[in-house]
Order: sequence, then C-alpha cells, then structure tokens
Amino acid sequence: MDEQVATSRVELTDHIERVLDAHWRPRGYTVPSAVRYPHQWLWDSMFHAVLWSALDRPDRAIRELATALEFQSGDGFVPHVIYHDGSPYAGFWGRNSASSITQPLLFGHALAVVVRDGTTPPSPLVDAAATAIRHLLRERVRIDGLVATVHPWETGADDSPRWDYWYRRHATPYGAKGAILAGVARNEHDSPRANPAFRCAPASFNALLAFSARELAVVAPDAVDRREVDALVAALDARWDAELGTWVDAGDAAETSGRIRTLDALLPCLVVEDVGRWEAVRSQLLDPDQFDAPAGPAGVHQAEPEFAPTLYWRGPAWPQLTYLLTVAAQRHGDEAMVEHLQARAWEGARRSGLSEYHDPFSGRGLGASPQSWAGLPLAAARLVRCVEA
Ligand code: GLC
Repeated sequence: MDEQVATSRVELTDHIERVLDAHWRPRGYTVPSAVRYPHQWLWDSMFHAVLWSALDRPDRAIRELATALEFQSGDGFVPHVIYHDGSPYAGFWGRNSASSITQPLLFGHALAVVVRDGTTPPSPLVDAAATAIRHLLRERVRIDGLVATVHPWETGADDSPRWDYWYRRHATPYGAKGAILAGVARNEHDSPRANPAFRCAPASFNALLAFSARELAVVAPDAVDRREVDALVAALDARWDAELGTWVDAGDAAETSGRIRTLDALLPCLVVEDVGRWEAVRSQLLDPDQFDAPAGPAGVHQAEPEFAPTLYWRGPAWPQLTYLLTVAAQRHGDEAMVEHLQARAWEGARRSGLSEYHDPFSGRGLGASPQSWAGLPLAAARLVRCVEA
C-alpha cells in the first residue's frame, strides 16, 4: 500500500469515528443518518455493532444489539424500524413505536464479530438473537424450501429490480408498498407469516438468514438446529442458475424479475461452499462489464436493461453489500478478492464522503450523507488481517 493511500485511510478512519460518534444516541443506538434516517433500523444496527467493535467500543456494540431487540414480540419476531422518539408512521404500520415487518437478521454475524474481537456478550442477548432466528425458520411460510418475506422492504434492498414483477402492477412505488403491506397475514402474536400479495422468498434474505444462523453457532453452538440450516442452504443452492450465474428467487417472480442479476442475489456465496460457484461469482465481481467498478461493485449487473448507476437500488454501489461480499471472499480463503474489494470499498468511501450509496464509476455520493454504514471498509480491514494471519 503506498503512503498516500495509507494516509487517506487514516484520515477516513478518523472521519468514520466522528460520524459514528455524532450518530450515537444516548438511548443506546446509532442512527443511519441524522437527517434522512433519524430512527433505528434493524440491519443497519447490525452493521453499526460490527463497526463499534472495530472501533474498540464493544460496550456500544452490545448496547446497540440489545436496543434493536427492545420491541421483539413474544414469539421472537423483531421489527425493522424502532421509532424511539415516537412514530410518525403508526397509521401506516398499524402499531406504535415500531414497524410491523422485519429486515435481514444479522444478529449472528454481529455477535460473532464481537466475540472474535474478545468480548463475551450477555447470555440474554444471545438467547433473544437465537429466538429471532428460530422464529423466521419456524414461523414463516416456505416457498420451495426457502423462507418467505412478506414485503420488499424486508430484504433491505427496497427498490431492487427483483421486485418489479409486483411494483409494475401499481401506479407508484409507494402505492405498491402500502398495497403489499395490506396483504400481510399475521399469526396470533400479530407477527407476519405470509403474504399472497408478495409471494417471494428472495435468495439474498435467505442467504443472510443462513449466514447469521451459522455465525451464531460461534457464540452458542446449539442455539439453532444445524440440520435445519443445512437444509435451508441446500434449498437455496438448488436455485443456482448456471447460465445466468446467479441464484434465482423463489415465488411468483421466479420466471421474471426474480432472475435479474443483482449484487445482493450473489450473497448465497456466504454459505454455499462449492468452489465452482465461488469461481463463477468472483469472475463476475472482477469483470468491469459485469459488476466490477472503480468505487465498488455495481448493485445490478451492468448488462441488465434495468441497470442505472445512480438510481436507488438499481445500480449504485452499496457499502454494506461490498462488506458482505468481502466477508464471503474471506470465508472462501480468497485473499486476492478480499484485497480487491477492500481497495474498491475505501475508494468508494473516499470519493462519496461516506454516503449511503454511490455511483460505482465516479464514486459520487448519493442518498443520505454521511451515512453510518459507509464506515464499513474499516470493519472489513480486519478481514484482510484475518486472511493474512
Ligand atoms: C433505506 C435502505 C434500507 C436501510 C434504510 C436505513 O431504506 O433501503 O436498506 O435499512 O435506508 O439506512
């Protein structure tokens, strides 16, 4: 690494720490952005915990994870947004203080990171996280063996072209989101179970669930039945399409928008160990005509007609996806790929000024700025050290 790059990383690390500190709330969580996202979001909080751990503040990591579970239902369901200062959207969600759908459950990974960094999390926190993961595995309707989501927002990839099959049926995306929410079927705890208006089991959501369950085993080996998770991974891998080079979603869009090559649809490589699959993924990540770009991999394959490098979820680079793929590269022992993605990630952070997402070619910041998860290259830097060790 040349001196200039090293200096810029030291400066960026300082900037990341200042942003995280400014976004920390005394209530015990980090806001994604002070202006655009002033509440607590579930998967953001998992990434914040990973970042607090990288910043040697495991106390904050643990508190943030615990706060994210404050509105967990009796059956384990965890809402995706908590409105600690009162909800302006109680009418929309049909409940006060929190939303009524979930988001990718990365508790297992966040806890494993904290443990690898030398802190033992309190057992009630580990138990609650395990209950949340088991809830999704047991309570949700399955489609072709995969866990169904009840709303596009549950994936975290809100406007991904993978949901176009449903979005195209509505006059506006917002209308679609409300109409889809109205279709959610709930259990006796009022937790979402299924949705005939969004019959979809995305590859990305299931990959993150399986990954989180496997990571949880680092902290609590018997908390989730290993065979259940292995079966989920097998069902997921059965959806690999060799011609397209992607994992296809299960459900009503399986023959249409559920096949569009998005970056998040490559996340099963976090749990699928097959070397051939990883080779197919890595060659796409390295190819500038496919996903590779100077400021981080594009969110949508560049040959897809839907690819739009500056449009929300339809092509920009996302720091949290780059981080997760770096974790995947590390798990496959692919040091060159870890380095490649890290270099791209720092470049994106530098050019975007720590934005929510950015143009993968120019690095121009898009969405909220600064955004907490844009600091993730710092957390991934530890993975470089792990590969080297
Ligand atoms: C946007 C993103 C979602 C994220 C939220 C807060 O809605 O699509 O993934 O959790 O912002 O950062």
